[in-house]
Amino acid sequence: MDSDLKNDAQDLLIRYGGDAFPNLFRSAKGSIVIDSNGREILDFTSGQMCATLGHNHPAITRAIKESCDTALHMFSGMIPEPVVKLAKALADWLPSPLRKSLLLSTGSESNEAALRLAKLATGGYEVIALGGSWHGTTGGSAAATFASDRRGYGPKVPGNHMIPEPNAYRCPIDHCRDSCDMSCLNVGLKMFDMASDGAPAAIIAEPVISAGGVIVPPAGYFDCLRDAAQQRGMRRSADRVRSGRCELFGCQARSCPRHHDTIQDPWWWTASSRDGHQP
Ligand SMILES: Cc1ncc(COP(=O)(O)O)c(C=O)c1O
Repeated sequence: MDSDLKNDAQDLLIRYGGDAFPNLFRSAKGSIVIDSNGREILDFTSGQMCATLGHNHPAITRAIKESCDTALHMFSGMIPEPVVKLAKALADWLPSPLRKSLLLSTGSESNEAALRLAKLATGGYEVIALGGSWHGTTGGSAAATFASDRRGYGPKVPGNHMIPEPNAYRCPIDHCRDSCDMSCLNVGLKMFDMASDGAPAAIIAEPVISAGGVIVPPAGYFDCLRDAAQQRGMRRSADRVRSGRCELFGCQARSCPRHHDTIQDPWWWTASSRDGHQP
């Protein structure tokens, strides 16, 4: 049975990521996953991105079950009561002036929506993203992704520009070592201004650049990015798919647009991290 399923996994599943583990997985709880041999393994992967509150967190599974028992999925003109309750809880918790939510399922969709909103609001279409960034696999999100997986998919959505990431260890412009003085940002913005069609729309960035090497930008980096956006009439979008939970627990770099920083500096909260086995 187990080897049949393993063969089926090979034969029947399409994957876009790297190699999968040799065994399948049967269940998970907290920070433990159990593979198809019954072996318990401490899950160091999910802390990074998938289940930062632990697998099958009881509060989250309870909420999923309640939704299944009541109103789970409907025509988009029918708003289920639990959706409004969640929006209210978020509105109460978010710093002013942030109040409204657009609830989506995946990080790619969230970034896609944020970029579309920025295009709608500005009338422009150009997007600045950082080298090493990972924003997703849908059209607009993938076009703003510069970590990997760009090759083989043909032309991208026009208007996406990459600026060098603030990597003090491997400075992309071979300028700094161990401490980033943000020359990369200045160079990147100059290059953008030279290449721009005059239709700027958005700057998108991860507070900690994840797939590109877990790069924490230097203090003041996001202030400079904010100024750059304001000077060009661009909207800003912080992709917190991976860093969101970490930020909430306050374990992130001081320079990043964390919850309390957003009071003065309302970066859009593009996407929060995925907790307890659910987006
Ligand atoms: C920073 C970041 N943004 C966006 C995404 C895309 O999220 P999803 O896979 O839910 O579409 C990911 C996925 O790993 C991510 O790490």
